[in-house]
Amino acid sequence: MADQHLPDLIKAGKRTKKPAIKREFKLDPAFLSLGKGRRFFIKTHGCQANEADSEMIAGLLIMCGFTQVDILEDADFVIINTCAIRENAENKVYGEIGRLKDLKRSHKNVKLIMAGCMMQEESVVDRILKTFKHVDIVIGTHNIDKLPEMIASLDENHAQRIEVESGEGEVIEHIPVARSHRYKAWVNIIYGCDEFCTYCVVPYTRGKERSRQLDAIVDEVRNLAIEGYQEVTLLGQNVNAYGQDLGDAKVTFAELLRRLHELPIPRIRFTTSHPKDFSKELVDVLALGGNLMPYIHLPVQSGSNRILKAMNRKYTREQYLELVDYIYQKIPTVSLTTDIIVGFPQETENDFQETLSLVEEARFEGAYTFVYSPRPNTPAARLYDDVTQDEKKARLYRLNEVVNAGYKTGNVRFLDSIVDVLIEGKSKTDPNHFSGYTPNQKIVNLVAEESDLGRILPVKITKAMTWSLKGEIVR
Ligand code: 5AD
Ligand code: SF4
Repeated sequence: MADQHLPDLIKAGKRTKKPAIKREFKLDPAFLSLGKGRRFFIKTHGCQANEADSEMIAGLLIMCGFTQVDILEDADFVIINTCAIRENAENKVYGEIGRLKDLKRSHKNVKLIMAGCMMQEESVVDRILKTFKHVDIVIGTHNIDKLPEMIASLDENHAQRIEVESGEGEVIEHIPVARSHRYKAWVNIIYGCDEFCTYCVVPYTRGKERSRQLDAIVDEVRNLAIEGYQEVTLLGQNVNAYGQDLGDAKVTFAELLRRLHELPIPRIRFTTSHPKDFSKELVDVLALGGNLMPYIHLPVQSGSNRILKAMNRKYTREQYLELVDYIYQKIPTVSLTTDIIVGFPQETENDFQETLSLVEEARFEGAYTFVYSPRPNTPAARLYDDVTQDEKKARLYRLNEVVNAGYKTGNVRFLDSIVDVLIEGKSKTDPNHFSGYTPNQKIVNLVAEESDLGRILPVKITKAMTWSLKGEIVR
């Protein structure tokens, strides 16, 4: 009989007032040579939280003696870190699991490990149990530190193992991290989400909001600066809620940024912000500039008060626009981007028009736009939905026309100016072509040299297109 600890979405949505359990990661020395001579490959779907988790999974396995490879066919262990945010993200993963069945036929010893948010859903694990028997290990988002033990037990029993916790989650410090970028690092500051937007599965897949200790974050960023990292991105589903669960009114996101502002790390970014918790004090701290980058991703989701209410976003269109005004007033050079969902159940043409007008009023310079996708166990999935799929797609298309104009305007404003660019990407086809990002998170393509990689250099912007800029390094 397979060893099983199955997900429970209803339990996962419950919240208690108990403070989150904090513990230190410790590797059982018995696992130190578990991976000797064995290779693993990780494919990551979804958001930056998943990218950060994959770096932890890699760090853990490397600590156990495994070697990471970039080619799936070279691996003894294939790990798929999944995303549950929309149905099409899940369908991609199902396609992949199917294709891996063929790989397992030709490479008999390959083991398949499924991780991430999808594994927190009963329906997904049911389907794996019934139809994807070639999956060897299923691990949820709360217990990735258990992976070495699970691999050891698979070695012994050769039986499918499912380990998914559906509780509120813990804060585990010092899981080793194998960072995938040399100049940019992710730093988790708060895990989980307690917002319960009615369309969203995240509060069920990632547990309750639980902040790391401020000093632990400051130490991590300080060490990254010493190691030569140029940029850190602070991560949380709602970074603005940072500290609220720690029971010390002085520990807030604004305070954390104030502390990080003093460190010798050249660039600090953060994602994602919830408008309802974005305080004026926070805007004032960001206005200090320096290493706090003039770029804010501020998901609005809809411009209609009726839909915002149905989404449980806890702010109005007017409050959102007032915040945006304050941001522009205090940080005139800022670039704002957003997330928008179209075709929420019962969204009318009128509601949609309000979204279009908000996009123009807020002067977004970019947006991730999505068609609403019903998610299991969420309140919105139980709503009557009279908007046809064709209408939803048409609205997405119309919205993107407006959003794209914002991208272009946002790029054109830098034409002929000199901006700092962190040179980080290298063209695969032309050894002289590189790319990098400006403080406002605009991508610039330019000619550079290998020795420029990882440096922040002044660049004159010579051309502005919708999706990118072209520039020349000022030497
Ligand atoms: N359908 C469509 N988009 C969604 N998002 C979250 N849940 C859903 C859903 N059920 C979008 C929101 C969020 C982003 C990460 O994904 O815009 O901000
Ligand atoms: Fe989902 Fe809302 Fe939480 Fe963002 S804030 S993760 S959209 S529930």
